[in-house]
Amino acid sequence: MLNIVVLVSGGGTNLQAILDAIENGSLKDVHLSAVISNNPQAYALTRAKNHKIPSEVVSRKEFPKGEDFRKALLHSIQKYHPDLIVLAGFLVVIPKEMIEAYPNRIINIHPSLIPSFCGKGFYGLRPHEAALERGVKVTGATVHFVDQGTDTGPIILQKAVSIREGDTPEVLQRRVMEEAEWNILPQAICLIARGEISIQDGVVHFQK
Ligand code: GRF
Repeated sequence: MLNIVVLVSGGGTNLQAILDAIENGSLKDVHLSAVISNNPQAYALTRAKNHKIPSEVVSRKEFPKGEDFRKALLHSIQKYHPDLIVLAGFLVVIPKEMIEAYPNRIINIHPSLIPSFCGKGFYGLRPHEAALERGVKVTGATVHFVDQGTDTGPIILQKAVSIREGDTPEVLQRRVMEEAEWNILPQAICLIARGEISIQDGVVHFQK
């Protein structure tokens, strides 16, 4: 059984995709032990509650010092002894201490085909705006392990999504979620739960 904790900040549609995959049996041998949010208003917390998953809020605002916030966040996560931490729209820069505590055990979903439209500042609508500005005809999403850089860790899965004439950043954001993110995030967790992934020299390899 792979014990996972999911970190969120917002709507939580990617969390929903994980919950659905567990409930419909396509994601087996995975136990979602908690959802942790930095944002007390995140709708993702309601989704957790609806599925009877324990949740916690660790808000930056409650801590005068960044260091104390980072400690509290790590403490909340460690209580659940996760095998894997899943960042599903988590808008906090992951502290160094956390990456060191969970090497190759944190994954993130990013709404572009890395290494395009990623790195510092590329969150929310920005990757989609940048893709439209550049005029690429294909974009997509990437699930990757989290290392010390921003969107630089080993890539696990990617899925391409076509850009259509007349797309707005909002329309494209939604299509990337529907066609790519909600598929590859549960799929990546599934591969990890089955022990089918190894990493060599920064590259993910699949084995059965
Ligand atoms: C997604 O676009 C994800 O790729 C990005 O943040 C967004 C989260 O959406 N990292 P949701 O909260 O899962 O609906």
